[in-house]
Amino acid sequence: MAITESTWSPSSWRGLPAGQQPQWPDSAALASVRERLSGLPPLVFAGEARALLAALGEVCEGRAFLLQAGDCVESFRDVSAPAIREKLKVMLQMSAVLTYGATLPVVKVGRIAGQFAKPRSGPTEVVDGVEIPSFRGHVVHSDEPTPEARVPDPERMIHGYYQAASTLNLLRAFTKGGFADLTHVHTWNREFVASAPSGQRYEALAGEIERALRFMQAIGIDLARERTLHEVDVWTSHEGLLLEYEEALTRRDSLTGQPYDCSAHMLWIGDRTRDLGGAHVEFFSGVDNPIAVKLGPSATPEEAVALAERLNPDRIPGRLTFITRMGAKHAGDALPPLLRAVRESGAPVVWVCDPMHGNLVRTPSGTKTRHFEAIMDELQVFFAVHREAGSWPGGVHLEFTGEDVTECLGGSEAVLEEQLDHRYETLCDPRLNGRQSLDLAFRVAELMRAV
Ligand code: PEP
Ligand code: CO
Repeated sequence: MAITESTWSPSSWRGLPAGQQPQWPDSAALASVRERLSGLPPLVFAGEARALLAALGEVCEGRAFLLQAGDCVESFRDVSAPAIREKLKVMLQMSAVLTYGATLPVVKVGRIAGQFAKPRSGPTEVVDGVEIPSFRGHVVHSDEPTPEARVPDPERMIHGYYQAASTLNLLRAFTKGGFADLTHVHTWNREFVASAPSGQRYEALAGEIERALRFMQAIGIDLARERTLHEVDVWTSHEGLLLEYEEALTRRDSLTGQPYDCSAHMLWIGDRTRDLGGAHVEFFSGVDNPIAVKLGPSATPEEAVALAERLNPDRIPGRLTFITRMGAKHAGDALPPLLRAVRESGAPVVWVCDPMHGNLVRTPSGTKTRHFEAIMDELQVFFAVHREAGSWPGGVHLEFTGEDVTECLGGSEAVLEEQLDHRYETLCDPRLNGRQSLDLAFRVAELMRAV
């Protein structure tokens, strides 16, 4: 029997095929973790998820733009204040560039405070000639390349909860406690970025923002009283992959009585786990958070329409985001049929481009990388196809870090292939560094102006 809405419960996914779940070896240990997680306080509140839903509703209607970005996978090792602050700085810089460049509000959502689990294309990987279980994120096991270290340990979900709590706490402090104040727009430029062409372009833009603020002050606007100048909302999101964890953090909102997955404000379903009859779609159909689904080249128009129907039957603008990740070569052919079918169905959808996951390549020596220009190519096609179709290119979904890493090739101060091993630090996919992220923001602002 197909499970219908009325039979939904936080555990109704258990009767369905659940892709990409670790094989937890000890069911008693898993049950104990599940029980403890269920008793812990929610990480986010339902009211916050509703505020994000409203903001995404604005994106859906073409009145705002979504910037969703962060690590491919967060590490349990480097959870320091500087690492979180540097990531936030780049996000605030990108957002300033996009807001000023396109004169539109930018909804900021991090891949942060819970982005711990990874889907993998195969159950095993070969490290130094030895075949071991694939790395699925620190919330599952260690990244040490030995078979023993890769045994899933459910206690790591408890660690993940506390790390998400401390990351979120610092994020709230930074975004509400003065650091994100627009009058500090100059101080977000990092030293290694400031000397680059995009860093200098940013300095000029920050100068213009300061002049605009002084102008407002001069005509009598009391800037001190304008909350939006001094605080920002940076929402959290992650791939809702580990259903044990997501179920255990689901709470009923005391105001509306509705279930919310309180592990993050927004959750997405990955390209590998979006089957209509699968456990992930079942679970996320029943929680009221804003939900996204990644759509890769294998997604059909029928599937997209059916997902919209299933995940957003009430057709609430902002409830459902489709993150397309086709690859620069396929986007031009793959996107138009999806846009057409969804438009004809009448379903309201936020369309976002992830130009990272379809553009992964390996160097001759086997290092995973992405080329900045391939990333820009997919973005450019995304904007062009939406312009053609008359739909709103609602946002970008990126993997980046605030550090001066050398993981993606190219950018205005190009990272070269022979430099990749200088600072290649990601645990999974290659991320844009601070300079490349800012380069990208300026280029996207130009694409937005052309819409
Ligand atoms: C990701 O966002 O890190 C990811 C694995 O994406 P996708 O599901 O699109 O492959
Ligand atoms: Co990734």
